[in-house]
This record gives sequence, C-alpha cells and structure tokens, in this order.
Amino acid sequence: MTYVEAADAPLRKTGHIKLYGPDGFEGMRKAGRLAAEILDAIAEMIGPGVTTAAVDTLVYDYAVAHGAYPATLMYRGYRYSVCTSINHVVCHGMPNSRPLREGDIVNVDVTIVLDGWYGDSSRMYAIGPIPRRAERLLEVTYDSMMLGIAAIKPGGHVGDIGAAIQDFVEPQHMSVVRDFCGHGVGRVFHDEPNIVHVGRRGEGPELVPGMIFTVEPMINLGRPHVKVLSDGWTAVTRDRSLSAQFEHAVGVTETGVEIFTLSPKGYDKPPYAVA
Ligand code: MF3
Ligand code: CO
Ligand code: CO
Repeated sequence: MTYVEAADAPLRKTGHIKLYGPDGFEGMRKAGRLAAEILDAIAEMIGPGVTTAAVDTLVYDYAVAHGAYPATLMYRGYRYSVCTSINHVVCHGMPNSRPLREGDIVNVDVTIVLDGWYGDSSRMYAIGPIPRRAERLLEVTYDSMMLGIAAIKPGGHVGDIGAAIQDFVEPQHMSVVRDFCGHGVGRVFHDEPNIVHVGRRGEGPELVPGMIFTVEPMINLGRPHVKVLSDGWTAVTRDRSLSAQFEHAVGVTETGVEIFTLSPKGYDKPPYAVA
C-alpha cells in the first residue's frame, strides 16, 4: 500500500491511501460536527409514533440550512437523506412512513457534505423501554467501536482495529458483520482503506498520520450473516436477530487519533439524557 498527499490526489479511488494535512483535518472537524449536531437533534425528536420519514426530512432540512447537502441523496440511486435501520436491519434501511414503536432499536446514519468534506456518523436510538438483550447489544456495539478507535495510533495497522472489536464482541456471544466495513473518507465518501471490523493485530496497511476513515462496526445478537432485500439496499440479518451499529469518522494524528463526529451535547450512547 502506498500513501499520497491528499492535496495532490485525484477525487476517486486510486489504490492509494490519501494523507490529509491541517486543512483536511479542519474541514473534517466542521463536517463531522455538523453530522454530530444532526444526530443530537434526532435524539431530541425521535420516539414512539415518530416516522423515519420525519427523520429523513429533519436531516435534509438541517443539512441545507447549514450550507451542506446529504451525501446519500441520489448516491448510487439511493433516494434518501439518511439511512434508518430498525431492529434486524443491519444497515442501509430506507426511511418510510411506519411509526416507530416502543421496544424498537434504530440506527440513524447521517452523511453530509460540507464545503466538499464528508461527515459520516451513526448512532443507535432506543424507542421507549427496550428489552434487556437489546440494551446489552447497544452497550457492546458502542463499546466495540470505541475500543476499535482506541487501538488507532501511528505505526499500528488497520488490523489492530478489527482485532480490538472482534476480541471484545465474540466472547460475549455476539457476532461481527463481515459484509460491510468502514472506509476512508474525506473529500470522497467511500475511499481506501477498507476498515474491516474483524482481524489480526499487525495485519493490513500501516496507520500513518493524516489518514482519515470511519470505524462503524455492525454487531448482531445472532449469527453474522446478512442478506440484502429485493429493494437492493436494505441489509438484514439472515437469522432475523437484532443488529446494532455506531459510526465515527476519525483521523490518525502524530500521537494517536482524533474523532471528528463527537456529540456536542454528550449524546454518546443511549439512553440519551435529552432535556
Ligand atoms: N453512511 C453509510 C456509511 O457509513 C453509507 C450509506 S450509502 C447509502 O458508509 F447509499 F446507503 F446511503
Ligand atoms: Co461510513
Ligand atoms: Co455512515
């Protein structure tokens, strides 16, 4: 794997990992913060009876009001401003007019483009009281993401991230989805490298200051296997077990890692202490 200065790199996948400088980190701070603010606003409006279509509208309106645009809208034929993945939906669920119900767990995945920078982040939301096993799934999924991020440092390897996640999740009798992974992000929505959420320490590309990517583990209560429904997008667990995901966009620094998508309101994981 080779590395190139992001400023000189073309805006597409080239087989090189782009390295961003201070301007890139500043652009990602702004885009990441806006994505995180939108997820905070969702925490304050979502609940029983709310539709995911209403979440979609909020994301579109909030993004446009702040000079940004939803990256998913018309991306590869996707027609919504956000992905909303309920219960056994693993990812890429499409907003619709069905009201959310007590006991549902839902992932909301927001990606906005602000001044050409992609802010990509997702969180889980618990709709009213949820079963104990769902609470445990959300807890393990959030903690797995943060352990994966904590494994990031210059001189380490991409495999360190997946290893940290897998070694934490599997002993708790939950499974890590293999079919979708994190990705380089920055001036491109989905770039090199792939960030697989399982792996072995020391394997994969070296982590170098200036790399920017997402960590977004999908964790299932049952088996890891996924199928995509006939709509071409909605990915569900094959065994219909519950699935959860959190996502942050991060950058490798000289000393470790910077998270671009932290919640300004401290709504890190459910239950969110909404005012
Ligand atoms: N935000 C998702 C990710 O984390 C990608 C969604 S692409 C869409 O990479 F087309 F499904 F919206
Ligand atoms: Co992503
Ligand atoms: Co995302």
